[in-house]
Amino acid sequence: MVALIFVLSALSLVSATPFPGSSHNSIFVKPSRDILCILLPWLCPRDTQITTEVETSIGTAKGVANGTAVRFPVKYASAERWQDSAVASEWELPNNSSDVTAMPLACPQSDLDSSEYAEDCLSMVLYVPATLTVSDNVPTLTWVHGGSFITGSASDEGLDGSNLASTTNSIVAVIQYRLGGLGFMAPNGSVNLAVKDVINAIKFLQTILPSFGGDTSKITLAGQSSGASMIRALLAVPSASSLFQSAILQSDPMNFGFLNTSTQETMQSYFNGLISCGASDTTCWDALSLDDILNAQSTLFSDAASLDASTGTAEPIRPVRDGTLITSPLDSTAAFPSVSKPILITSVLNEAGLTIYGSFTVELAAVYFEAVADEFLGDERAEVIANSTFYTATDEDDDTRIRLERLGTDWMWKCAIWTFARNWVSNGGAAYVGLYTVGASYPLNTYVDFCHEEGKVCHRDDIEIVFGTVSNPSSTQSELISEMQQRYKAFLHSGNPNVDGLTTWTASGTSEMNALQLGESGEFEIGACIPSFWGEAVEYDYQVYGI
Ligand SMILES: *[C@@H]1O[C@H](CO)[C@@H](O)[C@H](O)[C@H]1NC(C)=O
Ligand SMILES: *[C@@H]1O[C@H](CO)[C@@H](O)[C@H](O)[C@H]1NC(C)=O
Ligand SMILES: *[C@@H]1O[C@H](CO)[C@@H](O)[C@H](O)[C@H]1NC(C)=O
Ligand SMILES: *[C@@H]1O[C@H](CO)[C@@H](O)[C@H](O)[C@H]1NC(C)=O
Ligand SMILES: *[C@@H]1O[C@H](CO)[C@@H](O)[C@H](O)[C@H]1NC(C)=O
Ligand SMILES: *[C@@H]1O[C@H](CO)[C@@H](O)[C@H](O)[C@H]1NC(C)=O
Repeated sequence: MVALIFVLSALSLVSATPFPGSSHNSIFVKPSRDILCILLPWLCPRDTQITTEVETSIGTAKGVANGTAVRFPVKYASAERWQDSAVASEWELPNNSSDVTAMPLACPQSDLDSSEYAEDCLSMVLYVPATLTVSDNVPTLTWVHGGSFITGSASDEGLDGSNLASTTNSIVAVIQYRLGGLGFMAPNGSVNLAVKDVINAIKFLQTILPSFGGDTSKITLAGQSSGASMIRALLAVPSASSLFQSAILQSDPMNFGFLNTSTQETMQSYFNGLISCGASDTTCWDALSLDDILNAQSTLFSDAASLDASTGTAEPIRPVRDGTLITSPLDSTAAFPSVSKPILITSVLNEAGLTIYGSFTVELAAVYFEAVADEFLGDERAEVIANSTFYTATDEDDDTRIRLERLGTDWMWKCAIWTFARNWVSNGGAAYVGLYTVGASYPLNTYVDFCHEEGKVCHRDDIEIVFGTVSNPSSTQSELISEMQQRYKAFLHSGNPNVDGLTTWTASGTSEMNALQLGESGEFEIGACIPSFWGEAVEYDYQVYGI
């Protein structure tokens, strides 16, 4: 079968006639740019690659063969600094490039060299199965990358969508959006620019998908970490609701609500002070270098919690419930809107492993449990936690990091996610909750040994499983990759991840989570995530701060 796909994709590249069995309206209307280059490679420049063209309503899309898929980088929108973006009306490669093989430059971020980013960064990479035809009407998975709203891009490790696209027979669109100061801190107080970028990305997809064989009524948003937080924000945007069908949220730190407008204003005036620009002084804004903006952003990121504790530490620059775009906190602090979209919502076994074992590199004695909990959660919450039976030491010599890691995972992710799922189901939506007990160590996680121990699944260790980009997968990993891709395929089509031959994934009820273990059989234990503990006896941050 695999061999057949390769043969077909090779055929699609060298032949202008549709391949056998396909309808005559193959999306790949033109043959490779230069058949001569394939036959007589010495006639062509060394970097010439096989390209494919697709006619769209906004121009000719150019892509390059990428495994079992064809990869199309494209600019979906443009934006003046600190203004709303506008959806592209012509098909253009990112970075004003004519090189179809280049990946888009990232959005500006401190972790990259300046040659790797550009302010003009509202691009996406489409991965289209090589065998698709226009009449196929396949679904689309739109991936929103993570990175605390300050890092990440479509070129992040593991995000090559070719395997996911071909195994799910869907189009995978990996999108970029403005980050940090440029995406969230317009000096004149315009908020949520980055959220609107993502909305524009979906609008762009609505326009161009039919030319690729994509069904515009089957767009699923999927993302991990702050990418999932972004999707949660979009679930609270009534005006975006008709643009997508369903959502997949992986490891969203749901303990953090959206910011409220007064917190955003506090952060905004601090940021304006750092860049020394008045709120309406556009000449001043335009004169700032990207370094100036990134430096101000870094200072804001580190100082946010002391300006306003409700910002928390992990993603203080984030979507704002402004009342016009984002109209609901989508949590337990206010009436939850009625919802109807199916969601698939997952976390991993050791979400807090990176933070706890990254911060405490040696064993911690039992006495430190409450002190550390206190530091992170404040003494009121820490006392209730210490008095409860959920996080007691199993013996005197227990390494306290074990309990702290569970506490962090429950607080920031697992229990907060389960509370969200209960709200979702109680208000009309279907939710499938899962928890990865098997993962694949993400390259960025190498600095924490704990994350490489047998049986540990840290934040981000689900990414390469979903994308099928694990290098040298074990047989357990291969099984899980296959399972998740089959379930994603079913979910993209029907909003239900159940597939014949796989364990039944029971949708959550209002009290029973039925959280499926992804990597092992059975359901994951509820532990402290009972409604009377997390969210009630111990509040989430969004409750404590009333945001
Ligand atoms: C797809 O393209 C990416 C980026 O150029 C590359 O790293 C990857 O190996 C390609 N994948 C396949 C399956 O060819
Ligand atoms: C692309 O060209 C436009 C118009 O000349 C310019 O504003 C933009 O900065 C360029 N983008 C990049 C990434 O160089
Ligand atoms: C982006 O465009 C700039 C200016 O044309 C060029 O120097 C750079 O190499 C391009 N980057 C990529 C990744 O194509
Ligand atoms: C900020 O400036 C932009 C561009 O001039 C404008 O479109 C937007 O409405 C302004 N926002 C506010 C909140 O004044
Ligand atoms: C925790 O337990 C101690 C000792 O039993 C008790 O004095 C205290 O009131 C309890 N605190 C809470 C918040 O339940
Ligand atoms: C916004 O959040 C802050 C920080 O917790 C809180 O003090 C304030 O009352 C909230 N403001 C509104 C308008 O809800």
